[in-house]
Amino acid sequence: MSQEIIENKKIQPSERILNLPKYIFAQLAELKQEAINKGIDVIDMSIGNPDGATPDPVVKVALEAIQNPQNHGYPNFRGKIELRKAIADWMKRRYFVEVNPEKEVQTLIGEKEGLANIALAYTNPQDTNIIPDPYYPVLCRGTLIAGGIPYFVKLKEENRFLIDLGEIPTDVAKKAKMFFINYPNNPTGAVAPKSFLQDVVSFCREYNILLISDLAYGEVCFSNYRPYSIFNIEGARDIAMEFHSFTKTFNMAGWRCGFAIGKEEFIQNLYAMKSNIDYGTSTIVQDACIEALTMDDSYVKGIMDTYDARREIVAQGFNNLGFYAPRSDATMYFWIKIPSKFKTSMEFCKYLLEKTGVLVTPGSAFGQLSDDRFRVSLVQPILRLQEVFKRFKEAGIKYE
Ligand SMILES: Cc1ncc(COP(=O)(O)O)c(C=O)c1O
Repeated sequence: MSQEIIENKKIQPSERILNLPKYIFAQLAELKQEAINKGIDVIDMSIGNPDGATPDPVVKVALEAIQNPQNHGYPNFRGKIELRKAIADWMKRRYFVEVNPEKEVQTLIGEKEGLANIALAYTNPQDTNIIPDPYYPVLCRGTLIAGGIPYFVKLKEENRFLIDLGEIPTDVAKKAKMFFINYPNNPTGAVAPKSFLQDVVSFCREYNILLISDLAYGEVCFSNYRPYSIFNIEGARDIAMEFHSFTKTFNMAGWRCGFAIGKEEFIQNLYAMKSNIDYGTSTIVQDACIEALTMDDSYVKGIMDTYDARREIVAQGFNNLGFYAPRSDATMYFWIKIPSKFKTSMEFCKYLLEKTGVLVTPGSAFGQLSDDRFRVSLVQPILRLQEVFKRFKEAGIKYE
């Protein structure tokens, strides 16, 4: 190589990185730190990071597992068979869905990892994937990292934040490779009736599209509401995969564990991607996951009852200030319109942080079509929530 070429050559990240939109949660973390540095007592209701502890029986099993030298080596890539069996039993018990633990289950290092890897496993550069807006970021970023092109479908309040399949042009449907859905939905809190899921499955079958259903909030439900698994829908097995997370169900965000289920061919391709990139979920965590799935249901109920009580306070608090904040049947979120005097959701969030020390997530974190809203997570105890609304009142925050 001539000297001139070497001098002009710079160490540059790939275009895949350069073209990625900024991760707004990282920006929020910076804003939070700046506020803390100024001495502000920040109440963080932005990221959906459960504030509760992981249930005791799970921690106990993990403590035992960490002392077992057999757990200190590389884990089983697929997930140990005992965990895959526990997952299959749990799917049967909670959703009446049969999966083969040998062939149709893959454990994940958190569901987020799996959602990114499945996009990489099935998306070629320039392929089109259908993605609702607003979306949980990785549902879109996986496609971008793979060099694919997202086709966004706006989730509208008048349509109960369900995707209007009629809005997807036929030429997009014909070329689409993947379709991502997430109900109960982050950030809108929407839930999907069976008829909607049936329509999505028919659509994906008609156009041969791989349907990815993200069921991270399958257990975060209130007032006896239970969501469907995509595999409760006839015909889904041929075209769908479902992704689950331990994060919200068992307060296990930091443990990094989740799983994917689907027919052997789909799981095999996810496994092919993952086994080239990672070594699987730590065996210590896997043992803890078995306990989580088999312990008494009262632990999960306790976690959900906590969110339910907070939900009441947040709904009342915002509605008293003139915001429209309906209680959803599921998820730990409120998806609320910003007051009209603010031009962007980030502008409103910065204002709120500055005036009240309360941090919420701007809608723009979830897509370009969602800049008129903000998301509130129920991750603060009741006393802090009362403090939030006291501060809002004092600062004159209201919907206008
Ligand atoms: C819709 C949705 N899917 C997936 C995840 C990722 O979960 P995990 O912590 O298992 O990676 C989240 C986390 O907030 C989420 O909101």
